[in-house]
Amino acid sequence: MRVTVIGAGYVGLVTAAGFAEFGNEVICVDKVKEKIDTLNRGEIPFYEPGLKELVEKGTKDQRLEFTQDIDRAIKEALVIFIAVGTPPRGDGGADLSHVEEVARTIAKNLNDYKVVVTKSTVPVGTGDKIEAIIEETKKGEVEFDVASNPEFLREGSAVYDFLHPDRVVIGTESDSARAILRDLYRPLYLRDTPFVFTTRKTSELIKYASNSFLAMKISFINEIANLCDLVDADVHVVAKGMGLDGRIGPKFLHPGPGYGGSCFPKDTMALRKIAEEVGYHFKLVNSTIEVNQQQREVAVKKIEEAAGSLKGKTVALLGLSFKPNTDDIRESPAVDIALRLLERGAKIRAFDPAAMKTASEVLKDKGEVLYAKDSYNAAEGADLLVVATEWNQFRNLNLERLKESLKEPVVVDLRNIYEPEKMKSLGFKYWGMGRR
Ligand code: UDX
Repeated sequence: MRVTVIGAGYVGLVTAAGFAEFGNEVICVDKVKEKIDTLNRGEIPFYEPGLKELVEKGTKDQRLEFTQDIDRAIKEALVIFIAVGTPPRGDGGADLSHVEEVARTIAKNLNDYKVVVTKSTVPVGTGDKIEAIIEETKKGEVEFDVASNPEFLREGSAVYDFLHPDRVVIGTESDSARAILRDLYRPLYLRDTPFVFTTRKTSELIKYASNSFLAMKISFINEIANLCDLVDADVHVVAKGMGLDGRIGPKFLHPGPGYGGSCFPKDTMALRKIAEEVGYHFKLVNSTIEVNQQQREVAVKKIEEAAGSLKGKTVALLGLSFKPNTDDIRESPAVDIALRLLERGAKIRAFDPAAMKTASEVLKDKGEVLYAKDSYNAAEGADLLVVATEWNQFRNLNLERLKESLKEPVVVDLRNIYEPEKMKSLGFKYWGMGRR
């Protein structure tokens, strides 16, 4: 099948490489020349395990092409995926200007029947909008369908998630679009991946409901952790005890400094806005957002408590990305915490395996930040150490050596990667989240 993916960001690029892997002929378009040039050189514009190999395989087998020529890419495809950004507007709603622009370009190049599919996370009713734009702009009597097919992949395991999803959601009222999309996903269909076929609007809402529910789980366990600190209980055992109930499940019950990344913060705010626009006040989503914002300050207060006062202190900060295995710092709690520490007069010695370059752009001119060559170098002479992102390599540090590097043996573990008892027995003053 001939597929075009518009937008070479996380979702677009993984989708394009994934469909090429399924044996389709895929064109991936982006208007940013630099991005296309980078991809044509065989490089990936961001850090994502396994993606380079998948892209290499697709291009080598001539099933995957990168271009800026959107007109040709549209004309040649049967299925067109829209995977452009939907950044938050000032009021929290999703900015659809890129999606709308793409819809107009599709209409201008509509030479025969096509299925236009939204992969970007878009508010309920966006499919209707796209349909109206194409209908108004197209020349002549060419048929088309608009479908919704939200993507649930996680950064850091995006390739695996695309090839092994928990489910595929397809929203369309058209029989032919449904049949074409089922055919496109045939390799997963044959592998017994569950498929949800539904209407376009229901499909659009499934994505927001899923992300907001996961965000709510995180905010919930963060509040339980805060409570554990006050009543002297262990949040991990609480989470385990809860998670063994099959109705609750063990995942996404890990406390920390709050969720970040390109999806949860944006999608919770967008769902709140979607509800507001139809006169519904979504209390749980509101509280999820509020708790998440508050959790960053909970983390900073803990660091302040451990440091005595932050003014003039040097903090060794391990982790800057919003989660491990990515260089993405969008809405990263680690970066937010770094900014708050600098505001309170602290100096930072930071180390992150992938995100130091991206973070340095945000942190420059904000205070004294040194980028260390490794974790021990970050700890060198620091008054305390803060674990802000749970990269695997931080779990296996030589703790004796770490203690020797630090000026004071104080560790604030915002991701609970160390065992409190062990840390205490090694002579550390240790703060975790909800496990006093
Ligand atoms: C998320 C969704 O998981 C994915 O389905 C959707 O398509 C995009 O948004 P992603 O943003 O890549 O994916 O990261 P995810 O692994 O879900 O983590 C999001 C944030 O929640 C991170 O900041 C992470 O540290 C935090 N988190 C996650 C917790 O604090 N506790 C948890 O138990 C799980």
